[in-house]
Amino acid sequence: MATYHKVIGIDLGTTYSVVAAYNFEKQDVMVIPNRQNEHTTPSVVYINPSGEISVGRSAKEKQQRDPEGVLIEVKRLMGEQDEAGVKKMVVVRNKQYHPELISACILKELKACAERMIGEPVHDAVITVPAYFKESQKNATREAAKIAKLNPRLINEPTAAAVAYGLDSDEVQSFIVYDFGGGTFDVSIVRIENENTVEVVGIGGDANLGGGDIDEMLTQWFFGKMQAQYGSDFSNDKRLRGKARLEAEKVKINLCNDSETKVQEFVIANPVEGIEEACFSISLEEFERIIQDTLEKTLVQVQVALDSAQKNHEVTLEDVEAIILVGGSSKIPAVAKQLQARFNKPIKSNLNPDEIVAIGAARMAKNYEPSQAAVIKDDEELKPAEGVAAIGGGELDSTNIKDVVSHTLGIGLYGDLYDPLSLRTKSSRVGSVAMGIRLPRTTRPAFILLFIRAKTRRHPLISTSAKWLSAACGLSQRAFTGSKSRLRSMAMACFTGR
Ligand SMILES: Nc1ncnc2c1ncn2[C@@H]1O[C@H](COP(=O)(O)OP(=O)(O)OP(=O)(O)O)[C@@H](O)[C@H]1O
Ligand SMILES: [Mg+2]
Repeated sequence: MATYHKVIGIDLGTTYSVVAAYNFEKQDVMVIPNRQNEHTTPSVVYINPSGEISVGRSAKEKQQRDPEGVLIEVKRLMGEQDEAGVKKMVVVRNKQYHPELISACILKELKACAERMIGEPVHDAVITVPAYFKESQKNATREAAKIAKLNPRLINEPTAAAVAYGLDSDEVQSFIVYDFGGGTFDVSIVRIENENTVEVVGIGGDANLGGGDIDEMLTQWFFGKMQAQYGSDFSNDKRLRGKARLEAEKVKINLCNDSETKVQEFVIANPVEGIEEACFSISLEEFERIIQDTLEKTLVQVQVALDSAQKNHEVTLEDVEAIILVGGSSKIPAVAKQLQARFNKPIKSNLNPDEIVAIGAARMAKNYEPSQAAVIKDDEELKPAEGVAAIGGGELDSTNIKDVVSHTLGIGLYGDLYDPLSLRTKSSRVGSVAMGIRLPRTTRPAFILLFIRAKTRRHPLISTSAKWLSAACGLSQRAFTGSKSRLRSMAMACFTGR
């Protein structure tokens, strides 16, 4: 038997990605190091002038010498369209690339690291996505995986974080998952009912707030110091900016990691012609002062998530057991301090916040049998039809952990269009499990039925309406007149292909 389970877990982050797998000897999930023997790999791709591609640290370092060829934060573009409905593309040296292709380069690199460690080809991965990802974004992630020759299963990042802690008890427990990453800040209220039900009951966050913004603030601070010392504004110098951003991140991490040395030097050799070295000291105290407004924004979003959990699921701060820290930026010492002061809950940070999500994904991955090949068994099923919001693709089959969306659920029509269903009944919280099933392609055009299983009653409900069916099947609404039960049976007939 191979030492590692061959279904791997991948945290495909905006700025850093991590791969992990279950190790049978250690009987635990292990993070798999990359070629540089690091646990986190920058989600950065570099394309050189002749079109050759490199990924990770070497690509990130190209920011200093050839920033034009460097692609960062491609996750932000995945499955996105501009206002005119045109798919957002990545542009490098005047060439356009599909974001999926760039993400696939990162996935290929992680897969290669895993294969090197496992000693065998890997064909399957559990890949994490933010809880707020729309279907188009999830589809783009699936596409990227398939380009990288990986059969994908997707789970929510906060769910993976909770799974990483193996949080299960006989009692219902709720946690705040505070994920402050490189490009985004996400906070989720996660309720764990038993080992089989992990539910996201409230979310908040800011898709444009992360460690990168903090690096930018430090970079600005550096240019301010330069101006004060040399009397000129150098902030438009692209190369110096690239160098300063890299130095800013290093200084930030050193300040946060080493709480003993509370002062760091921000050093850049030959910043501009005529200056041999720029060197300025910064203390942790000053650093935390610079970023205080940013931290405050995250605390406000924690309250937003709590409010939504209370409103929609009657989960309150009193129900919260602890706060789970996720994401590299949550290692800033002020984060834990301020969270504790504001919400008065214990902080869980014994697992490395950078690695938690991948660890949770790998724990989930252990539940799956590896495939024989990266050939998708039912190609038709996994190949997203144009413009169709697709759930499925395998992530909802045999898992024993039910991942739940916190959004209102509905029936997916074309693109991001969907008609909402109410999830809650008067009596209690219902709809803990959402499962999506793609119709056979022969049922033209394909659409999704969401099955909402009430926790209290075991039978599934299929909800539908004439409006949805007519839109989905391209027929007039009149074709679908009739009672709700007739509509349901028509939906069921469509679903089963009969
Ligand atoms: N010790 C540290 N102190 C402060 N910041 C850190 C530390 N270690 C890493 N970071 C920062 O954490 C960020 C990366 O975090 P992480 O890997 O969780 O992000 P990500 O998953 O790529 O992003 P996202 O969750 O937004 O998709 C970077 O901005 C990095 O500089
Ligand atoms: Mg992350």
